Amino acid sequence: MGLLASSSSSSSSLVAVTVVLGLLFNAAVLCHGGISSSYRRVATELNIDMPVDSDTFYVPPGENTPQQVHITQGDHVGTAVIVSWITPKAPGFSVVRYWSENSTKIRWARGTIETYRYFNYTSGYIHHANISNLEFNSKYYYKVGAGKYARIFWFVTPPAPGPDVPYTFGLIGDLGQTYDSSITITHYQNDPLNGQAVLFLGDLSYADDYPFHDNVRWDTWGRLVERSAAYQPWIWTVGNHEIDWAPQLGEPVPFVPFSHRYHTPYEAAGSTAPFWYSIKRGPAHVIIMAAYSAFGKYSPQYSWFNQEIQKVNRSETPWLIVIMHPPTYNSYQSHYMEGEPMRAVYENTFVKYKVDIVFAGHVHAYERSIRVSNIKYNITNGLCNPVKDLNAPVYLTVGDGGNLEGLSTVMTEPQPNYSAFREPSFGHGMLEIKNRTHAYFAWHRNDDGYAVVADSVWLTNRFWYPTDDSN
Ligand SMILES: [Fe+2]
Ligand SMILES: [Fe+2]
Repeated sequence: MGLLASSSSSSSSLVAVTVVLGLLFNAAVLCHGGISSSYRRVATELNIDMPVDSDTFYVPPGENTPQQVHITQGDHVGTAVIVSWITPKAPGFSVVRYWSENSTKIRWARGTIETYRYFNYTSGYIHHANISNLEFNSKYYYKVGAGKYARIFWFVTPPAPGPDVPYTFGLIGDLGQTYDSSITITHYQNDPLNGQAVLFLGDLSYADDYPFHDNVRWDTWGRLVERSAAYQPWIWTVGNHEIDWAPQLGEPVPFVPFSHRYHTPYEAAGSTAPFWYSIKRGPAHVIIMAAYSAFGKYSPQYSWFNQEIQKVNRSETPWLIVIMHPPTYNSYQSHYMEGEPMRAVYENTFVKYKVDIVFAGHVHAYERSIRVSNIKYNITNGLCNPVKDLNAPVYLTVGDGGNLEGLSTVMTEPQPNYSAFREPSFGHGMLEIKNRTHAYFAWHRNDDGYAVVADSVWLTNRFWYPTDDSN
């Protein structure tokens, strides 16, 4: 009987192993490097922009009611918030009233108002108000507008910077405003990992894909993301679709719509331009880089970055995260090698200071690298192949928010050694920092249920656990 039980159990394990292996080989083509997922969604019509009058671009009642409400971090550590909104017809009431959930005392902050023209478009009245001196780890309500059309939202401040405070970031890139874009936001909001702030990886509205860069599409995008961006900070990275440089339209100055609509706390980080800056948030020090501003040696960004990275205190904020729009390591044909100029300038420093993760978008797909570097090459020595490097970051491309340009489906073959997993599906990422040594990254594709994880990895901190070579 014992023998029977044992042989039936071993034969059932054999069957299980065979089934698992079969599933693995079915789902993935194992190549030179890691996994190239063969999962593909059946083509749908979702990859087009929603009509301008779609319900998803919610317009509140009242012709001058505040709309496109969004928040971002307002200082270096998370005790201030920039609240932004637009009143379409008139300047209106440019004040934010706010109060802690534990208090009846209402405070207020006055906003600034700006407008801009772009070709034949004139913006509404864009308000930005910085509310500061907030307590860490607290829920605040805030109210924009006055009278019967006032609107109330809320947010939760992060914990004070510290090495072992858990914190969860969402990763969304290249969002656009298609039906898929809306699904991405819904999946992010319903993800049981509960993102507390979004690191946005660049390419917001894709208004520049329209004739004359139709800036009405900046307004619809602002209304689309309000359902998340009004309730938790979205941390902005500049992508190529934010450049809006069009001298043929009489628009020779880059970044005009983005600069007016989306402010960043760059001055608090000692930066001299809103496109490159840093924040501390809980256990993370996040450096946001600007790939479409000068970044070469001696540029303001280069000088600032090199000072900034030396200031990072891994005892206070162990997780050093860098964001830029184009990926440094990308094995899709789309935008192939576009990250090389920044890699050539900055990769040495990433490795020297043990950056944990570099997030990027731009390529409309998902990809995860191993810890890799290509810093030995000096043009003549022939050492031009990227190699596994325990001091190097993991590179994650999450450019799959769902814009009208569609997915980047063509991969270079064979899969390079540095590429651990790649799949062209729309989705979002989550980075769950647990403590000073461990963080969990999960990538979710929109075609699955909210809780399903399509790729995941445990990351160990490069400063506090540098010997771990599991990723
Ligand atoms: Fe891009
Ligand atoms: Fe993009």
